[in-house]
Amino acid sequence: MSATANRGEWSSRTGFILAAAGSAIGLGNIWRFPYAAGENGGGAFVLIYLLFVVLIGVPVLLAELSIGREAEKNPVGAFKALVPDKFWPYVGGLGVMTGFGILAFYSVIAGWTLSYLFSALSGDFGTAITAAESGAIFTELIGNPFKAILLTASFLLLTILVVRGGVSGGIERATKILMPLLFLILVILAVRAVTLPGAMQGLEYLFKPDFSKLTTGVVMSALGQALFSMSLGMGAMITYGSYFPKSENIHFAGASVAVFDTLIAILAGVIIFPALFTAGVEPDAGPGLVFVVLPTIFNTLPAGSFFAVAFYALLAIAALTSTISLLEVVVSYFVDERGWNRSKAAWLLGGACLVLAVPSALAQGGNDYLTSFLGEGLDFLSVQNIIWGNYSLSLGALLICVFVGWRWGTTKAIASLEVGGFKLPAAGLWVILIRYVCPLAVAVILAFIIYTQQYL
Ligand code: TRP
Repeated sequence: MSATANRGEWSSRTGFILAAAGSAIGLGNIWRFPYAAGENGGGAFVLIYLLFVVLIGVPVLLAELSIGREAEKNPVGAFKALVPDKFWPYVGGLGVMTGFGILAFYSVIAGWTLSYLFSALSGDFGTAITAAESGAIFTELIGNPFKAILLTASFLLLTILVVRGGVSGGIERATKILMPLLFLILVILAVRAVTLPGAMQGLEYLFKPDFSKLTTGVVMSALGQALFSMSLGMGAMITYGSYFPKSENIHFAGASVAVFDTLIAILAGVIIFPALFTAGVEPDAGPGLVFVVLPTIFNTLPAGSFFAVAFYALLAIAALTSTISLLEVVVSYFVDERGWNRSKAAWLLGGACLVLAVPSALAQGGNDYLTSFLGEGLDFLSVQNIIWGNYSLSLGALLICVFVGWRWGTTKAIASLEVGGFKLPAAGLWVILIRYVCPLAVAVILAFIIYTQQYL
């Protein structure tokens, strides 16, 4: 069997939408978005994030899908297949590294969701709880080095087990029913949140831009968040696009993913910020924000402990469909380019990732040095989040724009997006965005960040 024949394909367009949405929707929406919005002053950050989703996220998503669909390869192999240059495969390599780097801190947070799921199952969130009590629970859970590492390892193990099984078997099955359920529960929580006493204050913080809070760092975070949330800038969507059936409309599927992903982030914000002002938690509480705030609202719902269990179970699953896509990129590189077998690749690379994850797992109180790694608010995990999740993804997105816009060419990219006979709407606009607007915007932001030396 040829390498292509046994890579597998999504069984349907819905399968792809759900799997790609599964990659996009995850802790980035529910944990990272509120945490970044809170640290960056709220409304202005949210507005710029939304702008970036439309002007940069969607065009880059289409660019990645076009590459993947044409090349039918992992990021490194895809660049090799499309142009003869030596340089471009290194961009794919940067993507594979970035995926590994993100997975290493992401699985730590994902581990926290498991721990909260266990607490919810034992009924911990069924009774009234203050922000201070909730904070103490968080500190207790996360500050324990042994627990933190064990939870991270458990989550990586789950990821390895699914990725071992291969694309349509493992990933698709895991996503199909559970994503819509997550959406439903978020809507219920949002309805509850907007009727809390702090609702007005929270919604204002989230939606009313205060441009005096705007700095280069805020703009950089918004860019990073838009890319991170849509799983862009490292080739995940190259890999997923490569499994997309030739008979289906890939740009419609991509646009649907962008819409779902953004909706879920906004919903998460609509839940967290009213709850946060009601409970008296500071918006810039950092990586623990969502974990500290949410337990304070479950008990205000009828059947609160049921909702708590359902929410953390679905959040853990949403995180799993994201970690799967991260490990999948790394694994598909070693399988396609280095001839490893899938199972060996999943075990070895997942295991290696745990080693890199340990310092992040110890960075919330488990170890003093890692907790204040680069100073106040810059614990080891947050630093990883910034390096891989903001800078590296931005650089990757910039290079992908240059590749599609100027090297491989937008004509070929559009042809790839139109396979199956589906005309790309506003193709002319997309060409302008991918050649000029996106690369310039990202390059200017990166240059400013370097020039002002503003570490977020
Ligand atoms: N987008 C996911 C989230 O929001 C995280 C993620 C999965 C990701 N795969 C990625 C981020 C690839 C960047 C690149 O939780």
